Amino acid sequence: MQAGWHIVVLDNLCNSESSTIQRLGAMGHGVPEFVQGDVRDAALLDKVFASHPITAVMHFAGLKAVGESWQQAARYLDNNVGGTACLAAAMERAGVRRLVFSSSATVYGQPDAVPIAESAPLRTTNPYGRSKLLCEDMLCELRAADSRWQVALLRYFNPVGAHASGLIGEKPSGIPNNLMPYITQVASGQHPFLRVFGDDYPTVDGTGVRDYIHVVDLAKGHLAALRYLEQEGKGITVNLGTGRGVSVLQLVAAFTRATGVPIPYQILPRRPGDVASCYAATDLAWDALGWCAQLPIEAMCADAWRWERTSQAAGNVHD
Ligand code: UFG
Repeated sequence: MQAGWHIVVLDNLCNSESSTIQRLGAMGHGVPEFVQGDVRDAALLDKVFASHPITAVMHFAGLKAVGESWQQAARYLDNNVGGTACLAAAMERAGVRRLVFSSSATVYGQPDAVPIAESAPLRTTNPYGRSKLLCEDMLCELRAADSRWQVALLRYFNPVGAHASGLIGEKPSGIPNNLMPYITQVASGQHPFLRVFGDDYPTVDGTGVRDYIHVVDLAKGHLAALRYLEQEGKGITVNLGTGRGVSVLQLVAAFTRATGVPIPYQILPRRPGDVASCYAATDLAWDALGWCAQLPIEAMCADAWRWERTSQAAGNVHD
């Protein structure tokens, strides 16, 4: 909306809240139209396409927890793969064939080398990752079968942080699996210490290395991808990361630098399924989209911490 787009949001609110829409209004760029509903509801999608002059779709409606995907594999397939198929079919019926899709670096599985280029082998290690790869395959088939389809497959690395206003951010349900929300919960006293999963990886300090990217940079990557589709008239598969690897202990140190809050931690054994090091090759994003991530790790920490505090102050405590 800040970039001048008119937005219709469709969300089933299975892990989000309608109050977010009102909070978007407080950011000064208007309130998007909101339709509560499911991406697997074909009749609803037809209605939404018929009643708005939609030119492009950004599809974020995926479940994304690796552990949960083992317990609920059928739900992951239904929501992530079935939802994408239903959306693509509705887009086809409406003659809207421009789509930006949230994929994940998880499609690279255990990488052979870092930084990871888009041409790296694709392999997945869990039902969540498999669902993303199936969606990618499906959308590539559309592209191959009908050149009018313009699809951007965006492979996210590790999105963290929140909008600098402190008005919108991530609210994990239950105990967070991901590192940054766990750190902010330790900082606010909800857990006594951070559990660092492994310090014997072949990395700078033995802890796992990831490519953390600020969510605002990630959002700008989506706008750059949309511009690319419009201007080039063809699709693209591209990494969204910073290209910089940061270890768990480096992130902990950056958090304390940015916020002044110390994070006690204990070293635990490795978490099953984790890779030592995962960060993006970013040349294609720059060459094709003219996009690169700009916000430093300290901004990611400061903004994640601001969100943690404002959401708590608003009584928006984590479940
Ligand atoms: N870690 C800890 N303690 C924690 C949580 C995480 O030490 O409490 C470590 C992990 O071992 C890893 C790093 O912090 O080294 C990052 O872990 P995250 O869970 O935050 O992120 P992952 O890279 O494991 O997972 C992310 C996404 C997944 C996706 C995966 C691969 O959350 O959805 O990248 O692309 F599948």
